[in-house]
Amino acid sequence: MANDNMIVKNLACLRDWVDDRFPLMSNWNEHLAKYYAPKNFNFWYYFGGFALLVFVIQVITGIWLTMNYKPSAAEAFASVEYIMRDVEWGWFVRYMHSTGASAFFIVIYLHMFRALLYGSYKKPRELLWLTGMALYLLLMGEAFFGYLLPWGQMSYWGAQVIISLFGAVPFVGEALAELIRGDYVVSDVTLNRFFSLHVIAFPFLIAGLIGVHILALHETGSNNPDGVEIKKNKNAEGIPVDGIPFHPYYTVKDIFGAAVFLIFFFAVVFFAPEMHVPGTQGLFLESANFIPADPLKTPEHIAPVWYFTPFYAILRAVPSIAGSAFPGVVAMGLAVSIFLLLPWLDRSPVKSWRYRGINYRIALTLFVICFLMLGWLGLQVATPLYTWMARICSVIYFLFFLTMPFYTKVDKDKPVPDRVTS
Ligand code: HEM
Repeated sequence: MANDNMIVKNLACLRDWVDDRFPLMSNWNEHLAKYYAPKNFNFWYYFGGFALLVFVIQVITGIWLTMNYKPSAAEAFASVEYIMRDVEWGWFVRYMHSTGASAFFIVIYLHMFRALLYGSYKKPRELLWLTGMALYLLLMGEAFFGYLLPWGQMSYWGAQVIISLFGAVPFVGEALAELIRGDYVVSDVTLNRFFSLHVIAFPFLIAGLIGVHILALHETGSNNPDGVEIKKNKNAEGIPVDGIPFHPYYTVKDIFGAAVFLIFFFAVVFFAPEMHVPGTQGLFLESANFIPADPLKTPEHIAPVWYFTPFYAILRAVPSIAGSAFPGVVAMGLAVSIFLLLPWLDRSPVKSWRYRGINYRIALTLFVICFLMLGWLGLQVATPLYTWMARICSVIYFLFFLTMPFYTKVDKDKPVPDRVTS
């Protein structure tokens, strides 16, 4: 007992010593112990924390992979096989990293969907939304660069197809594609620069931006499933009456959520790392990528990984003009970037789906169905029927955004309560 007291006393001394030289306790209080979050968070509020967890998994497994990976066209494929077969626990680290890539996009798509459900992008959280979108774009780049590294057939030809899309930009296209590749074709030079971007530049940018994202969140405070601003209703001590301290209440909730998430995550790592869903070549790791890259042999069916397929389907749905794929490239670019405008396209005074009128509910439902359909269509060979289906879904996709100022303005929203409901 006396010993325990001694340890506690010494730790408190150490904390005070650090606190005199670094804003330790003030930050702990501001961002955890005295950060008041709405008390009605639900299932959808797990995914930001999960994204953080997956980022940490990716960084740690990435560091270990880099210890044995060789970023050269002559050795990359064999070095990945070496990691899988000969390095102790190498298969485990590699499957955690490849599963982590897909898990990242699953949690991010659900995280973004939550924002659409509860209007979390609306005033005063516009900047938070924009930092989130920047993170999403960086993640797409990070995944794209990483996919080239195993130097399998799909790595090589996927990169070839995507980079050559930049060649469709009028006037500067070819120069741009060469700048990205560093060569006239995807080569050793491309692999080297993608490696450096994948392991250094982008992870740093993403880590920094996650910090900015959380700071922006803590400035405005979290939204919640009722879309009620809890800061508008404070008690005499200036504490939101509908708020509870993030620590310990939500730290405990998030640790429980993380444990459940990890059960699913490791079930995939151990039992289905390729995610061989029937009708696909493997959703998380494509079978063609277990064949070394061959610049002289194009695989029969080139499809990007599942998280890019909604946008790939939009690209293919738009007819080329005079043999140029540029219109499709523009449509694909717009499909990704139009999310940036959401805070200004949505004119409804109500945030949460719970109190929105029928217009928004129908529009969001249709949008989600079309997004999923496009994701599936992007994995298929483009038959005329599928191309037409992709065209219809693409039109609905864009109408969701472009007509939003009208249907949200005239929507018959319900009254929003003053306090959160539990
Ligand atoms: C590396 C990627 C990301 C990480 C680590 C991350 C992390 C977080 C965390 C920890 C939260 C608070 C917990 C929660 O509300 O779930 C949060 C909130 C939020 N994030 Fe992200 N995020 C990421 C990407 C994104 C993206 C791509 C978007 C949207 C484009 C986004 C938009 C938001 C919004 C709007 C909120 C506030 C939601 C609310 O209060 O209702 N985030 N994020």
